[in-house]
Amino acid sequence: MSKTACVILAAGKGVRMGSEKSKVLHPLCGKPLLSYVIACARETNMNPIHTIIGHGAEKVKAAFSGENLKWVLQEKQMGTAHAISLAAPLLRDSSGTLVVLCGDAPLITAETLNKLVSLHEMNKDTAVTVLSGIVNSPNQYGRLIRNATGQLMAIIETSNATEEQLRINEINSGIYAFNPQKLFDAIKEVKPNSKNGEYYLPDVVSLLAKKGERVEVLVAQDATECLGINSREELAKANRIMEERIQKKLINQGVLIIDPSKTYIEADVNIGTDTVIFPFTVIRSGVKIGANCEVGPFSHLRTGTVLKDHAEVGNFTETKKTKIGEHSKAKHLSYLGDTIIGNNVNIGAGTITANYDGKSKHQTVIEDGASTGSGTVLVAPVKLGKDSVTGAGAVVTKGNDVPQGVTVAGVPAKPLGSKKPKHKRKK
Ligand code: UD1
Ligand code: CA
Repeated sequence: MSKTACVILAAGKGVRMGSEKSKVLHPLCGKPLLSYVIACARETNMNPIHTIIGHGAEKVKAAFSGENLKWVLQEKQMGTAHAISLAAPLLRDSSGTLVVLCGDAPLITAETLNKLVSLHEMNKDTAVTVLSGIVNSPNQYGRLIRNATGQLMAIIETSNATEEQLRINEINSGIYAFNPQKLFDAIKEVKPNSKNGEYYLPDVVSLLAKKGERVEVLVAQDATECLGINSREELAKANRIMEERIQKKLINQGVLIIDPSKTYIEADVNIGTDTVIFPFTVIRSGVKIGANCEVGPFSHLRTGTVLKDHAEVGNFTETKKTKIGEHSKAKHLSYLGDTIIGNNVNIGAGTITANYDGKSKHQTVIEDGASTGSGTVLVAPVKLGKDSVTGAGAVVTKGNDVPQGVTVAGVPAKPLGSKKPKHKRKK
């Protein structure tokens, strides 16, 4: 495969999302839509990656500042062909294939992109290869118009389609592999659409076909890869599909998810083998779980959570930026935030780390072998030493670290035995 450059279309506002936020920044399984498209371009070794931005450009740039992308600003969104034409000075003389991706089509896979580029490069004369999908509800997608021998003749947008054309169920994914010279020659001839004055990239495909250029189509094996997200409803649908993919991958890696449909796991979550995830558990993006752990039912593991091997987290336990060591347990009704928990620790039912003082977040450290009684509150910053114990209902106040092996109880918690009752009530 020769060198493949890529342009990602991401300038649109996404009016149909009903949001002030740029469409490509909306989260899908915990990560912005655009991040999936970039990851896919990277996985297929596309370089350089040009991203066309416009609406909310500064925020998009800031969200992906570490990604080494080339930004192209489309100040006014005048259509997909106009957007691509802005990249012409950068790409028209490149020798390899140019792939166009949509920032609002995050379900595309590297496997399909590789197939698209391979098909495109099978014949060096090919001007464009379009990725299409066969769907039940073609809705707002552009339709592929083929002739009697199956040759692609044109792509028609719904607003310009006849009743008969609207019945076609082969849709344009908005993803293409182009010969850059042929693309940028034809793009000059695109006329603004009669309905809204926008310049449509699919018109380039129709123009190339009309000129007798070689135009190919790859029909996606799984049409969900072509899903474009224009509305909240489509975002929710894409979220479900991505979620299924995430869980399927984890299951195939040896994780036992008891009921996938009742479990929610976001992107970039690592889980070791033989770990069991019980239903009604939510695992947010970036969480790392070791092997042989038990999670749920009803656990919420938020970003920054790390569970080491054999750790257990149970009902109504929420963790955030918290590390739980090997063989440690937090089985019931806990909030553990900004907490470092060692090995063989038992977190009693209802233990809370009070990590926020109204201004800042503070850390709690619970060392190896420590255990907390039911209803313990640990006011951070605070440390429970190795093998220390708190009694039921203890409130360990901030800075009052519990030394190794010591048991504390009461409010505020004091070492047991050291506390003399001040007023002995007489009967
Ligand atoms: C587009 C295609 C349609 C295809 C569908 C697949 C056109 C005219 N139509 O329709 O054939 O079936 O995608 O999802 O291309 N964008 C810009 N600048 C612009 C306009 C759009 O960068 O001036 C970006 C958007 O941010 C978006 C992508 O291009 O990421 C597609 O634009 P959108 O308006 O969503 O096109 P669709 O109506 O979905
Ligand atoms: Ca779209």
